[in-house]
Amino acid sequence: MNTELRQAASVETPRPAVAAASTADLLHGAILYLQGITVSFDGFRALDNLSLTIERGELRCIIGPNGAGKSTMMDVVTGKTRPDAGTAYFDRNVDLLTLSEPEIALAGIGRKFQKPTVFERQPVLVNLELAMKANKGVWSTLLATLRGEERDRIDSVLETIGLETLRDAPAGALSHGQKQWLEIGMLLMQEPQLLLVDEPVAGMTHQETDRTAELLVSLAGSHSVVVVEHDMEFVRSIARKVTVLHEGRVLAEGAMDDVQNNPKVVEVYLGS
Ligand SMILES: Nc1ncnc2c1ncn2[C@@H]1O[C@H](COP(=O)(O)OP(=O)(O)OP(=O)(O)O)[C@@H](O)[C@H]1O
Ligand SMILES: [Mg+2]
Repeated sequence: MNTELRQAASVETPRPAVAAASTADLLHGAILYLQGITVSFDGFRALDNLSLTIERGELRCIIGPNGAGKSTMMDVVTGKTRPDAGTAYFDRNVDLLTLSEPEIALAGIGRKFQKPTVFERQPVLVNLELAMKANKGVWSTLLATLRGEERDRIDSVLETIGLETLRDAPAGALSHGQKQWLEIGMLLMQEPQLLLVDEPVAGMTHQETDRTAELLVSLAGSHSVVVVEHDMEFVRSIARKVTVLHEGRVLAEGAMDDVQNNPKVVEVYLGS
């Protein structure tokens, strides 16, 4: 095992604890329910009483100016940042504010950061295998033969992300866009219910952007997907419901056309 793999293998992931279902009845099947979330950094409110509900199977786009709190919202959902106030429930009864980052990942929330973090020297296929094993915490059997169902799952993810023909290529040889798809594939290996994707098409070619739109649309339904992006052409191409964040709060929410024509949204974001 080389150094890159050994470092990854040293990350142990504990089992998630499911929290009390005190507000479960309020959620009506929502996959994510944020209520009154406030995050302060030295007195500055990055999130200010933010409330947001994502329905199961939804593809939600979140837009808004720089500093609006979009990434901070994802930090709260994934346990990277603890809010000063508010509640955050996932899948009806999982109280996210009581779980650690690895516990939240195991509970079924996958996050894609802007910069791809694939294992450059390993083939595409091995990157997917590693992602699956990370989830199971069985790194010691890294080199053991994959079972049939695991092979099938890898094949299915390779097809979803459009990298079947590149399965044996080292990840470092992929284009920027292909690396982003591989990383989405690595998230999919962990079978998340909710995917959070932060600025997926930054730095992509037009063609890669279009392919990413197709990919995210294909994931909705069987997954819930939250996409943050500044590329409005891309957002328009995938948008169902759009939420506009501004100064840590929801400024507007609705269909893309309604949001685009909302004078408040034009003033703070789209008009520039
Ligand atoms: N760890 C931190 N410490 C201090 N301030 C922070 C921290 N993280 C975020 N902020 C501040 O909180 C605000 C919200 O940042 P955030 O990254 O969530 O915005 P964003 O909507 O994702 O913006 P962008 O579109 O530029 O990515 C910004 O003013 C940012 O400087
Ligand atoms: Mg951001």
